[in-house]
Amino acid sequence: MSERARHLRERALRALPGGITRSTVFVPPHPPYAARGVGCKVIDVEGHEVIDANNNYTSLIHGHAHPELVRVAIEAVSSGSAFGLPTPAEVDLAELLSARTGLAHWRFCNSGTEAVMMAIRCARAHTGRDVIVRFAGSYHGTYDDVVDSAARGIPESVRNSVLVVPQGDAEAFKDALRTRGPDVAAVLIDLMPNRAGLKPADAAFVELVRSQTRHYGALLIVDEVITLRIAPGGLASVYGVTPDLMTVGKIIGGGFAAGGVGGSPEVLRSFVPQGAVSWGGTFSANPVTMKVGRAALELFDRGAIDALNAAGDGLRAFLNASGIVANGKGSLLRLIFERPEDWWHLYHRGLLVCTNGLMALSTAMTRADIDRAGRIIVETLGKGGS
Ligand SMILES: Cc1ncc(COP(=O)(O)O)c(C=O)c1O
Repeated sequence: MSERARHLRERALRALPGGITRSTVFVPPHPPYAARGVGCKVIDVEGHEVIDANNNYTSLIHGHAHPELVRVAIEAVSSGSAFGLPTPAEVDLAELLSARTGLAHWRFCNSGTEAVMMAIRCARAHTGRDVIVRFAGSYHGTYDDVVDSAARGIPESVRNSVLVVPQGDAEAFKDALRTRGPDVAAVLIDLMPNRAGLKPADAAFVELVRSQTRHYGALLIVDEVITLRIAPGGLASVYGVTPDLMTVGKIIGGGFAAGGVGGSPEVLRSFVPQGAVSWGGTFSANPVTMKVGRAALELFDRGAIDALNAAGDGLRAFLNASGIVANGKGSLLRLIFERPEDWWHLYHRGLLVCTNGLMALSTAMTRADIDRAGRIIVETLGKGGS
């Protein structure tokens, strides 16, 4: 570790709990500090350059400092970075998301966590019920209702209003709805949960969840915070399922903090200004985020999405053929780390992935970058690798 990195770490330990802001990016003893990013590369404060397959936890579909996005961002900031008024930019992004997902109405916020929190509030307000059903092992951010209810800091009351069922277990799911169905406001599902191994959900199970929610008058919330990048309409569209509420985040901000909830006008009616739910957010629908997010999504049209998915499928096939477990679909991959040092070994060899092995490709990567990433993974995680 260089003198500079050591000094930064010491200052961080004095100023931040555990020396860090995001528990999710922590790798012991301390993660490297990023200095800058260009295209698909990140350079840390020690001058070490890595291929970025983390992409700020899947949010950067075009890598770093994409020239067009930089231009849009500078132009947006130059016209004023935030207003106590709505701006046309939120209408533009809502229209784009409506066209892609088929969900007519959108509400914006600043993160995926907030989007899930809003969707849950909306479902409760819409149905007049309290209970949320979600699936074990899925990560939906840090709101009380979606984290382990036994964790310290979570109120006792959460245990009575959230049911956690094993994903894919049809009998357990039907059982939960048989007993609590009339109290269930919503079922929350991620169709390819990263923390549970990034395996696509079973289609028959997804169909069951859709039909049972309808049967019991509960809403179906599909969390597409990570999976929106898989298809213009999100992973739900690949399953042919229309959610009542869709939560999005990450890629919709083009690299800036963003979240959003989509649904039908009827379901989102609670959010109209005189409606049941008052919801603001000083930086919600921030014009810089909305403009750059829209530009990023416009560059990520069906052709670009398909090409990136094909590149991801190619990399996964190469890894699997080389004896490496790589789950996922399209441009999202998940490696399985067997040793705590695996992240560091990849990093030292020149590849940045998420701390749990999640990877997301970006359009900034060339074929050569992806091939090199594949070789680094095989050298590191393959038999005899280190
Ligand atoms: C599926 C899913 N939902 C919600 C979230 C929370 O999003 P954020 O980190 O923007 O709060 C995440 C974050 O990784 C996620 O993967």
